[in-house]
Amino acid sequence: MAKIVGVVASLHRDGLSSRLVNSALEGARAANAEAALIHLSDYVVPQWSDGNVGKPKELSEAFEGMDGLVLCAPVYYLDVSGLAKDFMDTVKLPDVSGIPGLGISVAGGTGKGLTSALKTIYYWFFCKSIRGIDPLPVSRFNLEAAVGQARASGRKLAELADSGRNPFRDLAERIAYHQALPFMGYEYVDEMALLVRQLLAAPHGKGAVAEARARDLYEKGARLIGEGRKLEAVGPIVEAYEMLYY
Ligand SMILES: Cc1cc2nc3c(=O)[nH]c(=O)nc-3n(C[C@H](O)[C@H](O)[C@H](O)COP(=O)(O)O)c2cc1C
Repeated sequence: MAKIVGVVASLHRDGLSSRLVNSALEGARAANAEAALIHLSDYVVPQWSDGNVGKPKELSEAFEGMDGLVLCAPVYYLDVSGLAKDFMDTVKLPDVSGIPGLGISVAGGTGKGLTSALKTIYYWFFCKSIRGIDPLPVSRFNLEAAVGQARASGRKLAELADSGRNPFRDLAERIAYHQALPFMGYEYVDEMALLVRQLLAAPHGKGAVAEARARDLYEKGARLIGEGRKLEAVGPIVEAYEMLYY
């Protein structure tokens, strides 16, 4: 039986990160995995220093025998929370080479930072030689759909974990694998365009006229992005975002 560990890197015990990790672990359990939930708020996770590596010991021990990892971080100023970063820097994991990992970022305010923070998580997976799957960027606008996606990805993670670890052959394969993952090549304007797509599908309450206008602006921006004219795309994409933002 595969062991999946889910980590909530927020100080809110019942917040959005907790909801998303619980959903992923539900999916893992549906695939007959053993699922363990870790709230980092239950521990004192120190900043990295020579003397702090692997602390707290009982937290590092909770990862022993892990076959797959779920990590969800709230977005603070366009990046992962400090708690998530301290966890990444300081906590000692067993050999995780080639195990699957599911990263989730949740930007519960304006939504900005949902992909930049996600990239931090997947860069960390890269450094740890974890095989990241299904990067999941979450805002208030796609939250309900994301909870369902987390469940499906949790199930997939458990199935992959069950079939054994799949270590990377070499650095070139590891880099190519990372670079091919969705969202990893996103710049700021790509992130804003993603938020507009999420808003267009959300109950924004701005009415049909505003929605049609925002859609036109989005399409103009998306065309410019497709042509590599990203700086010119910023104006129409941001205007569409501001029209639908709630
Ligand atoms: C210091 C700080 C910075 C934040 N920065 C952002 C941000 O850049 N983008 C955003 O959408 N939300 C931002 N937020 C809101 C959090 O992402 C939001 O509260 C998140 O849902 C928290 O997840 P949780 O409920 O799991 O704690 C910020 C919150 C704090 C406390």
